[in-house]
Amino acid sequence: MAVDFVLENCKIAKPNGIIEASIAINNGRIQKIALSDAMPKAEKTINLSEKIVLPGAIDPHVHFREPGLTEKEDFETGSLSALFGGVTTVLDMPNTKPFTGSMQDFENKKALAEEKSYIDFSLYFGAMDGNIWEMKKANPIGYKFYLDHPNIVGYSGLKAAASSLENKIFAVHAEDPDIMHANLKKNSAADPKSHGKIRTAEAENESVKAILNIEMGSNKLYFCHLSTPSAVKTVHEAGHFTELIIPHLFLSRENSAELGNFARINPSLKTEEDRLGLWKSLSLVSTLATDHAPHLISEKESTSPPSGMPGVETFLPLLIDSVNKGLLDWTDIARLCSAGASNIFGLVNKGIIEEGKDADLVIVDRKKSWELKTSKLHSKCGWTPFEGRKLNGKIDSVFFGGKLAIDKGKLLTKPGQGKYIVPER
Ligand code: DOR
Ligand code: ZN
Repeated sequence: MAVDFVLENCKIAKPNGIIEASIAINNGRIQKIALSDAMPKAEKTINLSEKIVLPGAIDPHVHFREPGLTEKEDFETGSLSALFGGVTTVLDMPNTKPFTGSMQDFENKKALAEEKSYIDFSLYFGAMDGNIWEMKKANPIGYKFYLDHPNIVGYSGLKAAASSLENKIFAVHAEDPDIMHANLKKNSAADPKSHGKIRTAEAENESVKAILNIEMGSNKLYFCHLSTPSAVKTVHEAGHFTELIIPHLFLSRENSAELGNFARINPSLKTEEDRLGLWKSLSLVSTLATDHAPHLISEKESTSPPSGMPGVETFLPLLIDSVNKGLLDWTDIARLCSAGASNIFGLVNKGIIEEGKDADLVIVDRKKSWELKTSKLHSKCGWTPFEGRKLNGKIDSVFFGGKLAIDKGKLLTKPGQGKYIVPER
């Protein structure tokens, strides 16, 4: 029996090196990796000489806004945008409407996403004051702790959760509420220039320290979107997980002048020195993510603009260009955008190109030059902070679950193909 595909002469990016081999794909899985004369017969053979093959990216931090905020995005448009960007698995955050803080709301969101998603996904469960029993019932990819939203736990809630849960991932948004409130008294929240004076590096660094002082038991902390090199170092030294997001690696306060409230994000963009420091600290980083947080242009232009920017579709493109610029290697992308999240969250069939794993693959033509344009992107929000960026290296095609899902910019699949992934930790 012939297998579904053989991809010949691949340059396969793994965290520990690049392997030159062919890949046989069958029934959604990678069946064999070997030299081309050892390949089985295939329904379709594609010669990929010169092309890089990356594992499908796992974006461990997206906001697909479903349910309740679907004017900004929904699971169909968010996952479509992800797929075009070579992201084949996402972990979705709980700050939807309603907040994903009960089993009922968790199950509802899961059902909606199963119906609509183009790609595989898993969901965070939101920590709230008084929902510890609900938290105990769930087996989510992780629990998300916001410290400063009304009705949501502070450090004491984190402590209480850590003492009643075991072997879980606690994803934290580390910005100290007291420091931010004190800064707010001195600055107007509405002024785009004030944003960074309220959400300061100090607010992040102090919050990181306070969180690391809490007894975690067997639970592990996953620090979302760290924006300063000092915080990365502190968390790494404490043996917990560090996430960096694309906005803090590719933008700094210097971009805020031109982008205005479109650059408003939490944690805020930091200095150019911090940005360059984050690039230097990549070896201490566990995962890269996008924090895809779409808001409408009309909201961003309003007098109370929300924080956040889209990015799931520009994630790999910006990093592929960065390889061509010499800022990181293909092996770093394989680790930071796939294998890292797979190991931390227990996505055991994903994140690495090996026999038996899900055939989620991104084929990259590293020589193609192109320009990022909103008109070509698929998010509902209709903008990108990276409009007009000229990039070298382009995604040629994407395999999802063993099927060719995107071929040279053409969509070959349908919504509803994505599965809910149960973490195996
Ligand atoms: O900038 C942000 N936007 N930071 C967050 O923590 C939330 C996110 C959102 O949901 O829009
Ligand atoms: Zn977020």
